[in-house]
Amino acid sequence: EIPRVTGVQTCALPISTPHFTTMGSAASVIAELVAKDLPADEFIGEVLKLEAFTVDGKCKIDEKHHDKLKALYAVSKSNPTNLSAKCFDLAEMAGLTPELQDRLMMCVNSGIENPDSGLGVYAMQPGDYDDLKPFFDRVLKDYHKIEGETFKHESDWTLPEDADTAYDLSTLGLPELSMRIRVGRNLKSFPLPGAMNAENRAEMENQLTVAFEKLAENEEFAGSYNSLTPGHKNFVDEAAYQKLVDDHFMFKDMSADGYLKSAGIASDWPTGRGCYVSNDKKFVVWVGEEDHLRIMCMFKGTKLADVFKKLEKALGVVSSIEGLEFAFSDNVGNVTSCPSNLGTGMRASVHIQLPNLTSDGSDAKAKEICKPLGLSVRGIGGEHTPIGKDGTCDISPSARFCITEGQIVTALYNGLKLLKEEEAKLQAMQDAEDLAKEDKNSSDSFVSEKFSDSEDDDSFMSKSSKTASKDDDREKEED
Ligand code: ADP
Ligand code: ARG
Repeated sequence: EIPRVTGVQTCALPISTPHFTTMGSAASVIAELVAKDLPADEFIGEVLKLEAFTVDGKCKIDEKHHDKLKALYAVSKSNPTNLSAKCFDLAEMAGLTPELQDRLMMCVNSGIENPDSGLGVYAMQPGDYDDLKPFFDRVLKDYHKIEGETFKHESDWTLPEDADTAYDLSTLGLPELSMRIRVGRNLKSFPLPGAMNAENRAEMENQLTVAFEKLAENEEFAGSYNSLTPGHKNFVDEAAYQKLVDDHFMFKDMSADGYLKSAGIASDWPTGRGCYVSNDKKFVVWVGEEDHLRIMCMFKGTKLADVFKKLEKALGVVSSIEGLEFAFSDNVGNVTSCPSNLGTGMRASVHIQLPNLTSDGSDAKAKEICKPLGLSVRGIGGEHTPIGKDGTCDISPSARFCITEGQIVTALYNGLKLLKEEEAKLQAMQDAEDLAKEDKNSSDSFVSEKFSDSEDDDSFMSKSSKTASKDDDREKEED
């Protein structure tokens, strides 16, 4: 439990929406400051001078944080949906120990430096979700749209008994698709990626290299490790790295991601980064991306249960290797850097062509349809990349937290079913439109031909048969 400023309740002064009534005598003073409509830095400067925020004339929040807090307050005004600002409680922070204050400020740095963040929050230590619970609980509730006051994440990999057939995409008339399910995992014994230094990263990679050598003895998951760390015995050069990225086995250059950079997650790139790829190329482990480990299975097929069950098995093998103990919290499940991945850490996706939903060349319409279905749309190179020229999108259920692993697969199957129906609806509309256009064209040409000098009934007949042959062509194309 976080110690609080005396007389101040939870959410006493969220940085964005001050709840003055719980601030005792400070409330009216803050109300006056708000009425003055001061610029963000002056407002926070004045608030931090108030008695509620000081002890023996000294501010309870170390001065080194003041500039960042002013910037955070400004973000709350310019980007009210940025959760680093929306969920931040200044009075709550004042009640924390200096060590926890430092940790809290590290967690919100990405949101401060990237006002357009949806979340803007990254955990930095495996214990952050517990040690900074009031703040993180607000973030989790808001981001994952949790209704009740309390929540507890439970893991469950159970699938319905008929999942092999029930979650077969061929029953939706879909061809074999590239299916991928990944889980994010972090080791208990290291700071989370945002708080690691180069030494930590190299040390963790060395420990994992030993673990991968053990994994290579397993028949099903045998493979090899590729390291980006200069001097590592499994070092791969730039060209080999690029090929791994192009083949979807390896992650992109993180130093190009502003959110990860501000969080410290991209620091020391490419030290300590790499990936293990099984010989059959169906099993991959990322090292040193947003989480210490991203463990995944990926192959083409139609049965979602196949890829899910293989991942479950792989995870069992990986976590049985000595020294690999994952960070876990009883309340929130598997600990991940980003609160969006917390709980299951699972993203289950397929690459699917959606030609009608993407007919304008963008993912805008697909996103609009997918959002209410609980699905996310990404590009073919992953997050923040464009969709394929042929309309291929990466579709996955958005939920990861307070949902079971098994339910994620159900959500993917059900979502794809609905999406397929949307595509069919648009196709039918397009067909009707094409037909109407053709009918109009043929009647227009009938009229103009009828009144032209050289017109006769035979030529009308020949026009009609041309229209029919066009229809035949279209049917052939659809086949
Ligand atoms: P994550 O899934 O770990 O959040 P990204 O969305 O950035 O990360 O995707 C990482 C890589 O995985 C990218 O190369 C992306 O194309 C690839 N990927 C994701 N889903 C699939 C899939 N179903 N089939 C093939 N590659 C995929
Ligand atoms: N930090 C970014 C934001 O808040 C990305 C969050 C989700 N993506 C992720 N890879 N964790 O908008």
